[in-house]
Amino acid sequence: MKKLFLLLIGVMTLVACQQETHTLYLDQMDLSKMETGWGKNQINKSVEGNPLTIAGHVFDRGIGTHAVSKMMIDLHGNGKFFSASVGVDDESNEHASVEFFVLGDEKILWQSGLMKKGDDPKLAEVNLKGIKKMALYVSDGGDNINYDHADWADAVIEYFGDTPPVSVQPVKPKAYILTPPPPESPHINYPRVYGAGTGKPFLFRIPASGKRPMKFSAEGLPAGLKLDANTGVISGNVFRTGTYKVTVTAENAKGKDRQEIKFFIGFKLALTPPMGWNSWNCWGISVDHDKVLAAADAFVNSGLADHGWMYINIDDGWEAEKRTDKGELLPNQKFPDMKSLAGKVHTHGLKLGIYSSPGPKTCGGYLGSWKHELQDARTWASWGIDYLKYDWCSYGNIAKDQSLPELQKPYKIMRKCLDNVNRDIIYSLCQYGMGDVWKWGAGVGGNLWRTTYDINDSWASMAGIGFSQDKCSPYAGPGHWNDPDMLVVGQVGWGPTLHQTRLTPDEQYTHISLWSLLAAPLLIGCDLSQLDDFTLNLLTNDEVLAVDQDPLGKQAVKVKDADGIQVWKKQLQDGSITVGLFYTGTSAPEEALQWNDKIKTRKITVNWDDLHISGKQNVRDLWRQKDLGVFEDTFEAEVNYHGVVLVKISGEK
Ligand code: GLA
Repeated sequence: MKKLFLLLIGVMTLVACQQETHTLYLDQMDLSKMETGWGKNQINKSVEGNPLTIAGHVFDRGIGTHAVSKMMIDLHGNGKFFSASVGVDDESNEHASVEFFVLGDEKILWQSGLMKKGDDPKLAEVNLKGIKKMALYVSDGGDNINYDHADWADAVIEYFGDTPPVSVQPVKPKAYILTPPPPESPHINYPRVYGAGTGKPFLFRIPASGKRPMKFSAEGLPAGLKLDANTGVISGNVFRTGTYKVTVTAENAKGKDRQEIKFFIGFKLALTPPMGWNSWNCWGISVDHDKVLAAADAFVNSGLADHGWMYINIDDGWEAEKRTDKGELLPNQKFPDMKSLAGKVHTHGLKLGIYSSPGPKTCGGYLGSWKHELQDARTWASWGIDYLKYDWCSYGNIAKDQSLPELQKPYKIMRKCLDNVNRDIIYSLCQYGMGDVWKWGAGVGGNLWRTTYDINDSWASMAGIGFSQDKCSPYAGPGHWNDPDMLVVGQVGWGPTLHQTRLTPDEQYTHISLWSLLAAPLLIGCDLSQLDDFTLNLLTNDEVLAVDQDPLGKQAVKVKDADGIQVWKKQLQDGSITVGLFYTGTSAPEEALQWNDKIKTRKITVNWDDLHISGKQNVRDLWRQKDLGVFEDTFEAEVNYHGVVLVKISGEK
C-alpha cells in the first residue's frame, strides 16, 4: 500500500514537472479587484499616467499604483516564481515613503524595506511553489499615503499548467446593523439650535422621526413665522433680532414629544455643522435637475430629513458655457429652471446649495465667478440658493503668490457680496487647507472651510484625513467649522457610474463616528435612491448625530495614539463627553490584509486620567444605544479592525 502511494506521488510529481511553464504579466490581469489608496491603478503607466520610472530607470511594463495598495491572486497551487522591480515612481516627491510586500498564504515571502523617491529599483524574486493564494501589498511606509506613487515594474508570474493565476476580490466583511430602529412614537431630533438673519427668508423643518401622520405645534414662535402643522415646516421672516425659545410638540397615534428649539435671529448661521447631501461624490459633473430633485424627495421619503438632514447641494457641472450679454451666469441645459428647482426643494422645508469658483473656471472646467462676484451672488439669491461652496480651482492662476493676503482675497470679496443680498447663504470655503485655512477661515467670514484635498472611498484616504484633524480642533465652533470633506458611504462613484463604497462596514462606522466627533459638516455623497438598510441605519442614529450637532460646537481632540489604536474625546454642552475608541491598525501586512472572513479585534483601554475625568461614570454605547453600566477609573472595549466603539461618558446622576 505504502509503495503504491509513493509511486502515485512520484507519477504526479513527474506530471507536474512535465507541465509546461507559462508566464503572466501583472499588467495582463484583471485590475478591477486591485485596491489603490488614491487614483486609478494603471497598466504600463504610473498612477498619474506617465511612463513607469524609478530613479531614472524607465520600464515598459508593469502596474502603477498608490499606497495603500492590495492585490490578491489565486494561484490554484500552480505558482512557480514571481519577479518584479519595485520602487517609488519619479513623478512623486520627497514626501513619498512606501514598502512593498509579496505574501503567500498569509506569510511574508519578500519585503522591500522602506523605499523613498530616488531609491534604485529593488528586485523581488519569490518562489511560489506550493502557494495557493498570494498577495501584493504596498504599505504607506508607516506615515501617511501622501505622494506614495508605487510601481510594480516588469512584474510577472511564472506558473505550471494551463490554469493561469487570477486576481480575486479581497474578502469583504459583511455589513451588520448596530442601531435599533427609531421608535414609531415621535422623537424630535437635532439640531435644536438654529440661526437665521434678521428679516431674511426663514425656513426650518422640525426634524422629528416617528410614524406619519404627525401633528406639529409650537409655543413661543417669534412674530413673522408660521408653522405648517402637518409637515412641521416653519417659514416666514423675523424682523426683530433676538433669541427665541420655542417649545415644539410633535404628536402621532403612538405618542408625543416636546422639546425646546432655540432660534437665534440676527447673529450667526450654521450654529451647528451643516447636514445634507452633495452631488459630487456620486454624480460628479453628470449631475442634473432630476438627480437633485430625487435627492430632495429621498430626504423626505427615506426619513433622513426627520433626522436633521437639511441641505441639498449641487456641486460642479451645473453652469452654462457662456454668460448672458449682461454678464449673468446661467445654468446649462441639465438644469432648465433653477428657481423652480429651489422652490420644490423649499416646499419640503429643505435648502438648496450651489457651487462656484473665484477663478475664471471651476475645477471641472465650467464658468467661475471671476469678476462677476456680486452679480452671481444676486443671481443665486434670486433663485433661492441657501448655500455656496466656493472652490479655489483656477484662481491659482490669478493669485500673485501663496501669501495669506492672496489666499484670503477672493474669499473676502465673495463674503461682501453675500452680505449684500437679502438671503441667508451658508458660505463654504474650499481651497484644500492652503495657508492653514482653519486659522483664518472664520476671520474671512466662512461658515466652513475644507481642511484637506479631496476624499475618496478608501480607508487610506478617509482615515488619513479624519485622523489628522487634531491640528484644526481649536478653530471649530458655532458658525465656523472645519470641513474634512464629504461622506463616502453608500453608492458613490463621481459619476456617471456608481459602485458600493469600498469602505468596510467597520470603516464606515469609523467614518461617521469620527466626523461626528470632529463636529464636521456632514454631507452625504451617495445616490439616495439606492439607500440600503445598512447605510440608512448608519445615517439615522440620533444619538450619534447629536454628538455632531451638539450646540457647544467643540471639536474632538486626540487623547491617545499608539501602536494602531487611537482615542478621541469631544466635550458636550451638558458636561458629558463622547469618546471614540478606534482600532486603526498598523501598516503591518498581517493586520492590513484580510485573508478570510474572521474579523481581527483588539482590546482598547482608556483611563479616566487620559480623559481628565474622575469618579463613577455612566458609559453608554451610542451605536447600540445601550447603557453599558457604571465604570470607575477605566473603561475597556473590544474593537474591530478599522472599527470603533463610540461611548458617551457622563458623571453618575
Ligand atoms: C474640487 C473639490 C471637489 C469638487 C470638485 C468639482 O476637486 O475639492 O470637492 O467640488 O472640485 O470640480
